Amino acid sequence: MIKAVIFDLDGVLVTTDELHFQAWKQLAEELGIEGFTKADNARQRGVSRMASLEVVLEKTDRKFSDEEKTALAEKKNDMYVKSLSSLSPLDVLEGVNNFIAYLRGKGVKIAVGSASKNTPLILTKTNLAHKFDAVSCGLDTQKSKPDPEVFLIAAQKLGIAPSECVVIEDSDAGIEAAKAGGMYAVAVGEAEHNKMADISAASVDGLYKTIEMFGR
Ligand code: BG6
Ligand code: MG
Repeated sequence: MIKAVIFDLDGVLVTTDELHFQAWKQLAEELGIEGFTKADNARQRGVSRMASLEVVLEKTDRKFSDEEKTALAEKKNDMYVKSLSSLSPLDVLEGVNNFIAYLRGKGVKIAVGSASKNTPLILTKTNLAHKFDAVSCGLDTQKSKPDPEVFLIAAQKLGIAPSECVVIEDSDAGIEAAKAGGMYAVAVGEAEHNKMADISAASVDGLYKTIEMFGR
């Protein structure tokens, strides 16, 4: 029986995945890297900031020291955080607030499980923070998805067994992480066609039946 739903943040709850893409693209341009595309960005979904940086640096032969990489990641984050200044409840993806209210009505616990260290800022700006029973994010973890750590910490904070949790994800790394953690995985958006997922939907809007299918 399902007792908790753990939501990924970027691309599942909010539109910030596009802002990540724009900031990485700007960094790539500043480094003289041409042709950083949405396909490259797809591999950045769900993984940590440093792992995302490596996807950009793969496109150049230039070598960077660890200090330089840290500075580049900070530069991208500064650009990204600036672009979050206008983030508001209007940037919550369609259907999310209704689905959260529906889950609450059924007594299902809800959490966030995100690689992003900007999770608290984003949840506050979008007025979502108070709606979750627990938040697990890049500030809590040592390992990046597809390692299940971020979701296991979310389950632990909720006090619910992994086998009673459903993860909703838009990244392949996140689906893999959920399965590695012994949880059900629901793929939405960009991950819709992921074969490892237990169930897929185009968006959170298509998920109402899902929870019933998992026995709630
Ligand atoms: C994930 C995004 O949610 O967070 C990744 O899908 C991003 O693309 C990662 O790199 C880390 O985010 P942040 O905000 O800590 O740089
Ligand atoms: Mg995501």
